[in-house]
Amino acid sequence: MSITQPEKPTSPQSEYTPTAPVPALGEAELHPALDLPLLRDLIHPDRLNWTPRELRDLTGLVTSELTTDLMNIVHVDEQQRWWAKLGLTAGVELWLLSWTPGQGTPAHDHGGASGSFSVLFGALREDYRYANGPTRTKHHDLGAGVGFGPGRAHQVTNVSSVNSASVHAYSPPLLPVRYYADPAEIPAVPPQRSEVK
Ligand SMILES: [Fe+2]
Repeated sequence: MSITQPEKPTSPQSEYTPTAPVPALGEAELHPALDLPLLRDLIHPDRLNWTPRELRDLTGLVTSELTTDLMNIVHVDEQQRWWAKLGLTAGVELWLLSWTPGQGTPAHDHGGASGSFSVLFGALREDYRYANGPTRTKHHDLGAGVGFGPGRAHQVTNVSSVNSASVHAYSPPLLPVRYYADPAEIPAVPPQRSEVK
């Protein structure tokens, strides 16, 4: 089944809103331009629970092995952040995001999902925090990737002077993102996976 481009958001809360029920275990929905045997292998349709390391490997390999295909898909929009869903299985969702200089997310967590991202081009700043911990800052350059568990909340911003794009994965898929006005508001208890729909 193909995936249509999600509507552009009117508010941060519309980001990552579930757009379809997850496929059955063993099946995968892929972006029409990326319906390739390699991605069908990498996305492991039979895998339900992904570790942060597996997610990081997924976004890293998609970024490094499908670079040309991703460059044919990616757009940048100075008015609004742009993204496209690349794939969805019962266990994982995969997205391509772009960031013009100054574009970024509010502070948020992933509703109990583990996640990862890898930089396709440009660079991103990540301000992240685990509950009750300090806010830390990390700069992710081209080719860099990070995987994290459900306890990590963050704010991601392109603070450079050039466009950036990145590939993101989350497991379980389609959990609602939770936004915070400030990283300091992140709750002490990480969200639980019982929110799976
Ligand atoms: Fe995030």
